[in-house]
Amino acid sequence: MNRTLLYLSIFGIFALFCCKPKPQITFESIVTEEFRPSYHFTPESGWMNDPNGLIYLDGEYHLFYQHYPDSTVWGPMHWGHAVSTDLINWESLPIALYPDSLGYIFSGSAVLDAENSSGLGTAETPPMVAIFTYHNAEEANTSSSTFQSQAIAISLDKGRSWEKYEGNPVLPNPGIRDFRDPKVSQITNPDGSRSWIMTLAVLDQINFYSSTDLKNWTLLSEFGKNTGAHGGVWECPDLLPFKTPAGESKWVLLVSINPGGPQNGSATQYFIGDFVNGRFSPDDTMIRWLDYGPDNYAGVTWSNLPTAQNRTLFIGWMSNWLYANVVPTTTWRSAMTVPRELSLFDVDGTLLLKSAPADELEKLRSEEYEVDKQTSELPSEAVEITANVNSDSFSITFSNELGESLVLSKENGLVSIDRRNAGKSDFQRDFAAMHSAPMSWEAKDIRIFLDASSIELFVNDGELVMTSILFPNSPWKSVTFSENLNSLKIYNLKK
Ligand code: FRU
Repeated sequence: MNRTLLYLSIFGIFALFCCKPKPQITFESIVTEEFRPSYHFTPESGWMNDPNGLIYLDGEYHLFYQHYPDSTVWGPMHWGHAVSTDLINWESLPIALYPDSLGYIFSGSAVLDAENSSGLGTAETPPMVAIFTYHNAEEANTSSSTFQSQAIAISLDKGRSWEKYEGNPVLPNPGIRDFRDPKVSQITNPDGSRSWIMTLAVLDQINFYSSTDLKNWTLLSEFGKNTGAHGGVWECPDLLPFKTPAGESKWVLLVSINPGGPQNGSATQYFIGDFVNGRFSPDDTMIRWLDYGPDNYAGVTWSNLPTAQNRTLFIGWMSNWLYANVVPTTTWRSAMTVPRELSLFDVDGTLLLKSAPADELEKLRSEEYEVDKQTSELPSEAVEITANVNSDSFSITFSNELGESLVLSKENGLVSIDRRNAGKSDFQRDFAAMHSAPMSWEAKDIRIFLDASSIELFVNDGELVMTSILFPNSPWKSVTFSENLNSLKIYNLKK
């Protein structure tokens, strides 16, 4: 090859790899119905609130949920049902549990009774057991206090069909108005035997019960009278074992509270401590919040995950009782958060709970755009943005052609999401607000998940999280980054 040709081909290769023009981002709407998220779970139609009965079985993640199929406002509760093999694509299945003469089907959990301890399946076909609250709406309108009780239902075909147990309720009401949301898990006792533990929300406390057969329950202990936030009723608890970064065993108790959250209305607090002999003792009296945004409520974790997954997988209801019934969607109401992996981390000797986006979400990334300008177009309503923070403050502004904007920032130790000018808000007076969270430690990187009507901000892979819903009158078309953000990437998310 002569010298000129050689130079030309070297230059050509260089030009190809180094000076390749950055692909132009142009906005392409993917939304099929106004405000309908593209990768967050929503019911096909009707009302949805809390996730219920989260259980993994034979390759399927089951998501049951509080559902009223006949309206887009809360009403007689059913358990809706969907399954997924990858936590991203959800297949809607027929309603699992219908209300009956004992009441509406309120929140609860599901376990695999692998040893058939209940005797309600067989050794070959162990039952999937749903443990839920019956809420007798007629009785609730009287002066009675006994209208909520705990009951079980059984499925022998991987959740496709259900039979309610004839001896229901399995835990009658002792005379307490708020007595609900059983989360059942199995623990190994010091002598090697196994017990079912029910964590139940009772007024603004938690009761723990134990059982060997899921049908007979004994009160073990109560927790919370003088601990934690008490601005509202406690709901949808969950009790979880963790290892600390130092390898110590700890238990985390999640407790949703409504109202009384850090941003008004609904939120989830958590306690870190020990669970010994059926009693939960917190390490301290600090109030900790799982998510500092206004819209992550009643979240709980999946049961029966294969040990090889070695993770605690969580999903929450992406709304707030302050306005859940009046948000401006038309054929359905509410979405779930993205699935998240919970773990403990340590800040200057204080243990906190981290919620990282589940790994599966990376599979949503289709086109990847490296951004080297302060302002960029967005490719669609569904994007993920990642960035490194090189000073301890940042700001990101999403905007549309109507002059609406959504601003995320960290400044003076406060992480904020400002949705005051982010679209529709006149449906409820508290909606248009700026929400802030204290973060005393350094923000190093951020991940943002944007969908048609929500934003989820994960700082340091979930050391601080804020989830917020919003209803822009036109999709966000562009984003502006402060100069102290670098390694900016925008991913177009497609299922
Ligand atoms: C929480 C909650 C639960 C109850 C369910 C009723 O959002 O109030 O306590 O079981 O919703 O739909």
